[in-house]
Amino acid sequence: MARTFFVGGNFKMNGSKESIKTIVENLNSSKLPANVEVVLCPPAPYLAYTAELNKQKTVQVGAQNSYTKESGAYTGEISPVEVKDCGAEWVILGHSERRGIFHESDEFVADKVAFAIEKGLKVILCIGESIDEKKAGSTLDVCERELAAVVKAVKKDDWQHIVVAYEPIWAIGTGLAATAADAQDIHSKIRDYLKSELGELADSVRILYGGSANGKNAPDFRDKPDVDGFLVGGASLKPEFVSIITSRE
Ligand code: G3P
Repeated sequence: MARTFFVGGNFKMNGSKESIKTIVENLNSSKLPANVEVVLCPPAPYLAYTAELNKQKTVQVGAQNSYTKESGAYTGEISPVEVKDCGAEWVILGHSERRGIFHESDEFVADKVAFAIEKGLKVILCIGESIDEKKAGSTLDVCERELAAVVKAVKKDDWQHIVVAYEPIWAIGTGLAATAADAQDIHSKIRDYLKSELGELADSVRILYGGSANGKNAPDFRDKPDVDGFLVGGASLKPEFVSIITSRE
């Protein structure tokens, strides 16, 4: 199954109009491969700004979070309708920082995924285990539990609008990425789980690796059949982001 290579840039709570202009203009002036889907996820205040600056046909914009309601008295929350209104097509949901710092349950994440898709967004769904869960041998249990909540909340067809990002928490922001071999092992087991729930639809679901991915280690993942791309944090703020996008060439 040929799956389009996908590279997401999660800027997290970083950036300014000036720094985002630099990042987007660097991408605008780069020769990007036609067969790589790129999604830039700036902080919410800069969604429309980023979408307006972008000139690359293969580059889209995404939010880093969205709520389960379209509008109303939910101070501080972000509606998926507002995300679309800013010219963004994607949203990251279930990031470990949302689950850990803001105590988002599997069910709450799943409800956000279902609503974002209902309102026409595509979703980068983050899953992944902590170091303690890894040491306890629970990596797959955690990934399957987080995926199961979404399987329950969405229709099978909705999975065409979902990209899964496996992000081992112990690799995020640490500079200690999982090895390409370990990532491939977990990704293939994630795909097996998805096959058990979705049948052959699972073959078309892209599974990204995230956690200290950078320009230096991205080529190591090149020949891993179930690593369909990356969700990049820190390195998405740097010029090396382009080399991650071209790492499959
Ligand atoms: O969502 C991607 C992010 O969690 C990975 O961060 O800085 O380890 O690439 P980083």
